[in-house]
Amino acid sequence: MSDRTQSPDPVPSAHARRDAALFLWKWIQAPTRIGSVWPSGRSLGRAMAAELDLSVPGAIVELGAGTGPVTATLLQSGVPAERFYAVERDPALAAVLRQRFPSIRVLEGDAGELPALMRAEGVEQLAAVVSCLPLVSLPRTLVRRVIEGAFDILHPDGRFIQFTYGVVSPIPLRHFRLEARRVCRVWRNVPPAAVWRYTRRPGVAVGHGG
Ligand SMILES: C[S@@+](CC[C@H](N)C(=O)[O-])C[C@H]1O[C@@H](n2cnc3c(N)ncnc32)[C@H](O)[C@@H]1O
Repeated sequence: MSDRTQSPDPVPSAHARRDAALFLWKWIQAPTRIGSVWPSGRSLGRAMAAELDLSVPGAIVELGAGTGPVTATLLQSGVPAERFYAVERDPALAAVLRQRFPSIRVLEGDAGELPALMRAEGVEQLAAVVSCLPLVSLPRTLVRRVIEGAFDILHPDGRFIQFTYGVVSPIPLRHFRLEARRVCRVWRNVPPAAVWRYTRRPGVAVGHGG
């Protein structure tokens, strides 16, 4: 596991301050669904982007894109816009994303319905899922639908990348048979975060009750 100590993120622009205010308002309305009072920083977005393997065929999907700080970094890191889909359940946040990233597809909907959302776009296979969902505060049944749905359509070599502010795996490994690795810590994020990478265990079903 590496520690990311890149140079500090720049001073927030007016645009970033507006995002922060909208995000805080959303958090006040639904704290467990938003999961953070502050949008992610670029260092965290870069750390997640570094885990992508673009040679794996299929779409790249970001779950819980919010106001788009990770979306922007993924695009800057070379994710082709035509392969990129952002899923966001909150209509106001989805509208911000559509306006800000006209080159990608923004799907307003529930990450727990991922296979159906992707099928409606004509996408059968994903190369990677970059999840910004607050898995530790979402209902367990929704987490199960997110993880099982994502791995149902993820390429066998595909990766599920997730950040967390906690110290343990944000996907409860007692409920899912996955290879899990904490790949780095990002201290220059508020709050500091860790990035986890999950892959399928060959020949093993992902879910096993609980
Ligand atoms: C921690 S925020 C991350 C936002 C942004 N990606 C960032 O890193 O700043 C979590 C986001 O997940 C969204 N979300 C929560 N539950 C969701 C669900 N079931 N389906 C899609 N998006 C969801 C929230 O609306 C929120 O925008």
